[in-house]
Amino acid sequence: MLQHPDSALVVRPATLFDLPAIDLIQRLCYQPVFHEPVETFAARLRLSPGSSWVAEAGGQVLGYFFTHPWTGEAPPPLGKTLEHLPQHQDTHFLHDLAVHPHARGRGVAPRLIEAALHWGKQRGLKFTRLVAVAGAAPFWRKWGFKPVAAAPAYGDDAALMALSAENQAITTRP
Ligand SMILES: CC(C)(COP(=O)(O)OP(=O)(O)OC[C@H]1O[C@@H](n2cnc3c(N)ncnc32)[C@H](O)[C@@H]1OP(=O)(O)O)[C@@H](O)C(=O)NCCC(=O)NCCS
Repeated sequence: MLQHPDSALVVRPATLFDLPAIDLIQRLCYQPVFHEPVETFAARLRLSPGSSWVAEAGGQVLGYFFTHPWTGEAPPPLGKTLEHLPQHQDTHFLHDLAVHPHARGRGVAPRLIEAALHWGKQRGLKFTRLVAVAGAAPFWRKWGFKPVAAAPAYGDDAALMALSAENQAITTRP
């Protein structure tokens, strides 16, 4: 059973200790075709410590958001372990946001997104990009992201979406 709804929500950087909870949430949230090996999450934490977060309440992880610096429009390959990050980095790539099905609609996603957008802004990355999968594009539109291309490697209905730094400045919480 998930924690009492009144428990305070805390957003903090993800660590390797969170990976079992993260793996469980991804399995509850995505079709098997999108399940990534835990090692791919671990590699992202190693390559870019501090740019991925979990939200927890009462010591229970309710959601996670993995992001990392990247370059250009082409997204990183799905399900593959990243060996290194590009040298020239102009993009904050938002890799994976997921909230436990029993914890949705309680402000978990907005808190994770705000932490991530703040990090990207502090880092001075010019673009914020993501691939909306499984019909999530309308969710991201509310945060100011606009579709810029198809992303067939992530699925037939996947869309590459972008938010420029200028737009981010005026993006308000939906
Ligand atoms: C997307 C997700 C993180 C949102 O979490 P949440 O806690 O429901 O987020 P919020 O409460 O901030 O937002 C909920 C709003 O977004 C809408 N929404 C959520 N997922 C959506 C989707 N896939 N498509 C369209 N709208 C969506 C809800 O209907 C709700 O709308 P409302 O505010 O008008 O009622 C969560 O639904 C999830 O984990 N989904 C599965 C994983 C996923 O698809 N991640 C994104 C992949 S790019």
